[in-house]
Amino acid sequence: MTANKCNEIFERTIIKGRPIRIRLACDKDREKLIKFYESLSVETIYNRFMGVIRYFDPYVDNLLRKSKSLVIVAEDEESNEIVGVAEAVGDESGAAESGIAVLERYQRGGLGTLMAKILVEKSKEAGFKKLYGYIFSHNLGAYRLAKKFGARIKRDYGDIMRIEIPL
Ligand SMILES: CC(C)(COP(=O)(O)OP(=O)(O)OC[C@H]1O[C@@H](n2cnc3c(N)ncnc32)[C@H](O)[C@@H]1OP(=O)(O)O)[C@@H](O)C(=O)NCCC(=O)NCCS
Repeated sequence: MTANKCNEIFERTIIKGRPIRIRLACDKDREKLIKFYESLSVETIYNRFMGVIRYFDPYVDNLLRKSKSLVIVAEDEESNEIVGVAEAVGDESGAAESGIAVLERYQRGGLGTLMAKILVEKSKEAGFKKLYGYIFSHNLGAYRLAKKFGARIKRDYGDIMRIEIPL
């Protein structure tokens, strides 16, 4: 799903005064995606991946290689850098594990909500039955974001919750 369609712009918007376009990622975004993840703060990486990751090359290569994956990027139209990524990786059951991260200086401007909306729409079109993900219980931003799309807490491990969004 990531191969050919990266020229189609899903949405254009202004976030914190910056012009942003949202589209699918494709192979040619490899270096930009690695740069994006490497430029995130430790806190954002920790909340996104539940751990501290230093080298993102294998992660990005794996993401771009998976046939059942939807990777949506937000790009600053002036600097051309990727400033947000939302992904859904399909599994054998027809569900997709999802994750989202926005560069700190673009956070709390509505970009996460817009990317999640597009991810949900595209996931439905791709035929995924539900989206699921894991978030820290203290991650209020991720929790509020997920609730906007009908997320339910399916398991509560104390520090970590599994949330699901039926599609
Ligand atoms: C979660 C994340 C993607 C949200 O992106 P964003 O661009 O800030 O999202 P929005 O501006 O659309 O905000 C979404 C909602 O979360 C709330 N929110 C965002 N950050 C928040 C924070 N730090 N504390 C409390 N609420 C927060 C917003 O107020 C908004 O809720 P509202 O519309 O009811 O006011 C971003 O904070 C991020 O990258 N976090 C680190 C990675 C992560 O936690 N990913 C999720 C797990 S995979």
